[in-house]
Amino acid sequence: MSASRGVICGADQVIVVNGSQQGVDLAARVLLDAGEEVWMEDPGYPGARAALSAAGAVAAPVPVDDEGMCVAEGERIAPRARMAYVSPSHQFPLGATMSASRRLELLRWAARAGAWILEDDYDSEFRYSSRPLASLQGMDQDGRVVYIGTFSKTLAPALRLGYLIVPPGFAEAFRAVRAACDRHSPVLDQAVLADFMAEGHFARHLRRMRNLYAERQAVLVNGIQRSLGERLAVRTTEAGMHLVGWLEDGVDDAAVSARLLEAGIDAPALSRYARKRPGRGGLLLGWAGFAPEALEEAVGRMAAVLS
Ligand SMILES: Cc1ncc(COP(=O)(O)O)c(C=O)c1O
Repeated sequence: MSASRGVICGADQVIVVNGSQQGVDLAARVLLDAGEEVWMEDPGYPGARAALSAAGAVAAPVPVDDEGMCVAEGERIAPRARMAYVSPSHQFPLGATMSASRRLELLRWAARAGAWILEDDYDSEFRYSSRPLASLQGMDQDGRVVYIGTFSKTLAPALRLGYLIVPPGFAEAFRAVRAACDRHSPVLDQAVLADFMAEGHFARHLRRMRNLYAERQAVLVNGIQRSLGERLAVRTTEAGMHLVGWLEDGVDDAAVSARLLEAGIDAPALSRYARKRPGRGGLLLGWAGFAPEALEEAVGRMAAVLS
């Protein structure tokens, strides 16, 4: 974690969990009292929002722009919030990378307010162009960041393995609450994964997938630009496994998404991830799991629906 993400920690700060979602739940149980407010990116990840609400926290939607979460808006909307949930490497779902100045602003707010930051680093392993910015956790001087990593994107969501890196001095509290809920993640799976990493297969897998996903993304983006043009505006994304295709002004993304589903294409509407309705409709397009021929064929079907 230190080499790849600039995380600063000892092994005793790592808590293995059953994926990010359990990590969010655990952090909320350990660090928050019921009814306390949490800044949530809007649009944002419903899995995190649901886990926080289920643990008794109250989500306060905070807008995001192309520098990530708007910290000043957070301070205006929910000045007493005790936590902020962010996906700074690749904001879900819009895809922004949080700028260095926003990172500092967020860390300063957390230090000043005595609040916590949940850093969901769910897909930072898949970065196609520039090197990622170091994690918020590595920039944090005040022990306010809980870093969340997952194997759901790098290996498989069915594995249900992830990890938290908790602030110094908090591991015992996290372990105790974890043990009270479900003791621990499957040890056999962890042992196999540990061997997989120690023998170099994981790093090789990431390198291979990075190339494969970059190629697949290019097929999707070129296909859409060629066949759909203005009707679905797409740009190559620097990271991750999905991008947002923007519909023309006034087009209802939920209606388009429903029509696409009838045609066998699952492209969730951007509005589904937002509390405050976005000005322009969009579709989330995941490409990583599909061969180029399947993507090209799907673009043809999308073009037919959108026309
Ligand atoms: C923003 C975000 N965080 C985390 C995850 C992974 O969640 P989990 O580790 O619980 O499978 C996803 C999966 O889609 C995601 O979009």
